[in-house]
Amino acid sequence: MAQQEDVFKKLVSHSKEYGFVFQSSEIYDGLSAVYDYGQNGVELKNNIKKYWWDSMVLLHENVVGIDSAIFMHPTIWKASGHVDAFNDPLIDNKDSKKRYRADVLIEDQLAKYDDKINKEVEKAAKKFGDDFNEDEFRSTNKRVLDNQAKRVALHERFAQALNDSNLDELRQIIVDEEIVCPISGTKNWTEVRQFNLMFSTDMGSTAEGAMKVFLRPETAQGIFVNYLNVQKTGRMKIPFGIAQIGKAFRNEIVARQFIFRMREFEQMEMQFFVRPGEELKWFDLWKQTRLKWHKALGLGDQKYRFHDHDKLAHYANAATDIEFQMPFGFKEVEGIHSRTDFDLSSHEEYSGKKLQYFDPELNKSYVPYVIETSIGVDRMFLSVMAAAYTEEKLENGETRVVLKLPAPLAPVKVAVMPLTKKDGMPEKAREIIDDLKFDVKCQYDEKDSIGKRYRRQDAIGTPFCVTVDHQTLQDNTVTIRHRDTMQQERVAIDQLRSIIVDYVSLRNLLKKIKED
Ligand code: GAP
Repeated sequence: MAQQEDVFKKLVSHSKEYGFVFQSSEIYDGLSAVYDYGQNGVELKNNIKKYWWDSMVLLHENVVGIDSAIFMHPTIWKASGHVDAFNDPLIDNKDSKKRYRADVLIEDQLAKYDDKINKEVEKAAKKFGDDFNEDEFRSTNKRVLDNQAKRVALHERFAQALNDSNLDELRQIIVDEEIVCPISGTKNWTEVRQFNLMFSTDMGSTAEGAMKVFLRPETAQGIFVNYLNVQKTGRMKIPFGIAQIGKAFRNEIVARQFIFRMREFEQMEMQFFVRPGEELKWFDLWKQTRLKWHKALGLGDQKYRFHDHDKLAHYANAATDIEFQMPFGFKEVEGIHSRTDFDLSSHEEYSGKKLQYFDPELNKSYVPYVIETSIGVDRMFLSVMAAAYTEEKLENGETRVVLKLPAPLAPVKVAVMPLTKKDGMPEKAREIIDDLKFDVKCQYDEKDSIGKRYRRQDAIGTPFCVTVDHQTLQDNTVTIRHRDTMQQERVAIDQLRSIIVDYVSLRNLLKKIKED
């Protein structure tokens, strides 16, 4: 665990050192839970967004995109339930004056039981070696069974309290489990209170005429209120989907773990409109499609798992998360929800406008049901960086830090380097870039030894380094070095484009999603 925390710290400082992520407003000591993306971060982020966007609108004839405004009529948030129900249960420790989410404290406690169980299993596995039967051990060992029973009981009690929105019971669980404040170490807790997560501001030039508007906490509502515009102008037939990428804002109380929980973040959401009664079939289908999208990146199939929700949001009749194994444990990266007709029916009611679809095959009108896939760009970014960050011991005893990013996502696809700054090598390197730059992001580098230049490119995940040397000037060949294997080969300059462009194309990832 300590080792994993160490990896996470290194990842955070690597992200800063190599121009991926900066703390927002850093020269003013920063703004909590708000981050800026640097020159490499923005490229990686854009590539993630393109991968998602293309997987939606290119691979599905019946999915189209929109880009709706961040500001929307305030009644939308009343209709969606966010004004009344988009709350977190908060609790303060009276000694440290620190504020926590009550549900997160209890989730951490559940994770502690898991840790205890896993430690017992690990200890026994070491002791018994090849003869170890894990299933048998888990079902017979007293300490494992005791902790398992405590975990199950806590989990049931917690789920019930959440479902009943019972704040007193949440507090009582914290007291009964003897959960202490990590800062003060005491159990001196306040009551649990609800806190709305939406930011608001005033729209309009005069105080009297100003209207309180919200910064959207999800992009989804922009899709719901435009669904008939898109359906009619695009002559869409159910089932069909609308995709959108955009900023969302939440006044998160427990903002921690770098870009995992931010106050300003970006979502990639798709609402899929279906016939009532068919939603669970589509829910299962989108679950599988989205998992394939993640796995196609090759970050490791074992790093993903589904987590079905204990407490369904006010709009859902089924919900699951795709969790990814971050350095701080399995965490939600994407939510897939069967949102029923809650949002559209509610917008009908609040706006007084009909939002029904006429189904020509059934010859009747209805409010469609909706399956939603919702993934945070920033969390996806963090999961890709976490999986890619590698420290390798080399034969000469040195350590190389390499970001093994999926090539189509890498910020820079190729670095072109003259071996020396003379004899026409820089000019030749520039010529190569002038040809490749129409297809891929290139970087020119002539400073320092070639070894140092390779390391710099490894650290930002560049899949290829091309070196122009003396032989190049004679026969128009260069060396091309592969990031992961560090192998070099000599190729003709006129082959470079097809080698590089084919390898880094998003097409490779998109095709994998379609493979069975
Ligand atoms: N429209 C449904 C919705 O917004 P959600 O589970 O609250 O559902 C969806 O959010 C995704 O948005 C999450 O899985 C996560 O990746 C991302 N997300 C939510 N809150 C976030 C935050 N504070 N910082 C970064 N990403 C966040």
